[in-house]
Amino acid sequence: MRKKIIAGNWKMNMTPSQAVALVNELKPLVANDDVDVVFCVPAIDIIPAMEAAKGSNIQIGAENMYFEEKGAYTGEISPEMLTDAGVKYVIIGHSERREYFAETDETVNKKILKAFEHGITPIVCCGETLTQREQGITIDWIRQQIKIAFQNVTAEQAASAVIAYEPIWAIGTGKVATSEQAQEVCAAIRACIAEVYDEATAAAIRIQYGGSVSAASAPELFAMADIDGGLVGGASLKPDFGKIVNYNK
Ligand code: 13P
Repeated sequence: MRKKIIAGNWKMNMTPSQAVALVNELKPLVANDDVDVVFCVPAIDIIPAMEAAKGSNIQIGAENMYFEEKGAYTGEISPEMLTDAGVKYVIIGHSERREYFAETDETVNKKILKAFEHGITPIVCCGETLTQREQGITIDWIRQQIKIAFQNVTAEQAASAVIAYEPIWAIGTGKVATSEQAQEVCAAIRACIAEVYDEATAAAIRIQYGGSVSAASAPELFAMADIDGGLVGGASLKPDFGKIVNYNK
């Protein structure tokens, strides 16, 4: 039985002091032992958020990481900086990073390999545009993203990974995918993992849905057979996130 994982992606929101206030506000609301709860926060918020989350079930994750160990990469965050701060999860290849910061399937693959090398669990993002959905190439596109992202990743590593299926047309638009649409793609991702690795790896890997998840849509989405939780943007900054995390209560 896969444990659900519900993660917030704060994106470029919350100053360090706002981060502390938000963690303190949400702490009592997101208690749910059935679920892994992760707040992926801007790099500058990691340490204060970690401090504020102490003694709660909230784990603090990062939104990005570079694929080199250290050195002359001005502005980047290294894997060791994350592990030293106690980070266990990092979002890799969010569609916003692909669109605005020129991330590719190849750099995503390098980052995933580096994260595993340091014992950090990547939350690997994939998703199609509205045009691709209308062209009927969603599944082909997602399979390609997954296959490149997981190149040279071992089965054992893959089994511990998290994949976030986030249709780009559903992100920040209020247009949530139907639970059937989300389930169809999440099932295809699991089948792709079974093909690349084996059934046991496919059965273990956790697959989230992301894109306008709300307290209203979460219960139906998370009840689908291949959806193991969510990656939540806007609603993770509000008390509503407590309702999303407690979708099963
Ligand atoms: P929204 O929940 O705001 O649509 O964002 C989804 C997302 O991009 C999470 O990574």
